[in-house]
Amino acid sequence: MSENDGFWDFYWEHRLLPMENLGKRAAILAASRLIRRQAQHLGRPLRLLELGCGEGQVIGALLDAHSQVCAVSDSVGVDYNAQSLAACRRDTPGLRCIEGDFTDPHLLASLGAFDLVLLVNALHEVFSDCFSPRLGEIDVAAAKSRVEQALAGAAARLEPEGWLVVFDGLDPAGDPDRRLRIRFVDDQARRHFETFAQQYRPLRITYRQDADPLSVELPQRDFSRFITKSIFLGKKLWETERLQSYQYFTEAEYRAAFARQGLAIAELSTLTVNEDKWRRLVEIETPGAAFPDEHILIAAQQADDRKRG
Ligand SMILES: C[S@@+](CC[C@H](N)C(=O)[O-])C[C@H]1O[C@@H](n2cnc3c(N)ncnc32)[C@H](O)[C@@H]1O
Repeated sequence: MSENDGFWDFYWEHRLLPMENLGKRAAILAASRLIRRQAQHLGRPLRLLELGCGEGQVIGALLDAHSQVCAVSDSVGVDYNAQSLAACRRDTPGLRCIEGDFTDPHLLASLGAFDLVLLVNALHEVFSDCFSPRLGEIDVAAAKSRVEQALAGAAARLEPEGWLVVFDGLDPAGDPDRRLRIRFVDDQARRHFETFAQQYRPLRITYRQDADPLSVELPQRDFSRFITKSIFLGKKLWETERLQSYQYFTEAEYRAAFARQGLAIAELSTLTVNEDKWRRLVEIETPGAAFPDEHILIAAQQADDRKRG
């Protein structure tokens, strides 16, 4: 099985068409490339682990596409949502699905070692679970430390030459308090922003109304939070999305956390898949300011000193 042949480009192009607007398409493509490379290198069936597998769209697609080189029944999906896991069991028969909290070190330790560990859109939920009723928002320091513990747990499940793939939200670099002036395209877009500012629970949103009823001024950090959630406003998914912060680490924080966990980053990219939709909602009036990168994709292995033990 060669790494980058036309067959796989064609295969994924068709298979992932329905996921075109979801950034995790990039995570699946990256994981597929790693699986093909590892299969050639190791010459034995690979074991995959997805932490926060949900309905199994990611691990299911990968196992299905690479069933000849992956051991499906030795692969594992973990999720604490029983309903999602039931769908995962139905759609990916043979995969071992474990209902539980992947931040629980005892649960993770019982799973063994894997050639590919996936954390796709899962760590931001670990961050968001640290909402403090006392503070009225997420306890950011505690939440970041919990994310890092979860990352450490995932890293500990890697075979010496295994790969960890993390795909998630990204806090923009630069001064988070930098003020941006934005203008909504119409009243409905402005009303959606109002709903966002009132109902988004993870962290307090601040903004200042401009004399122009369609314009507001707000910190860069709050703009990123708004714009990355804007695609859910007015939809049923908003009820759950409003409870979760997609942002928790900047690129520098991801790099530092990976280094602290003895993980060597081999690939890192940032991406945005919804900019066209954002442009139909809002214009950024501050000169030199741009829409943020939405997602980060990182592939890492244990650093050489850890592999040697
Ligand atoms: C946004 S979904 C992503 C699902 C899947 N990775 C995908 O991309 O299709 C995040 C999933 O992580 C699960 N999750 C979040 N925190 C978890 C935890 N601490 N333990 C187990 N599952 C968790 C949620 O229940 C949810 O199914």
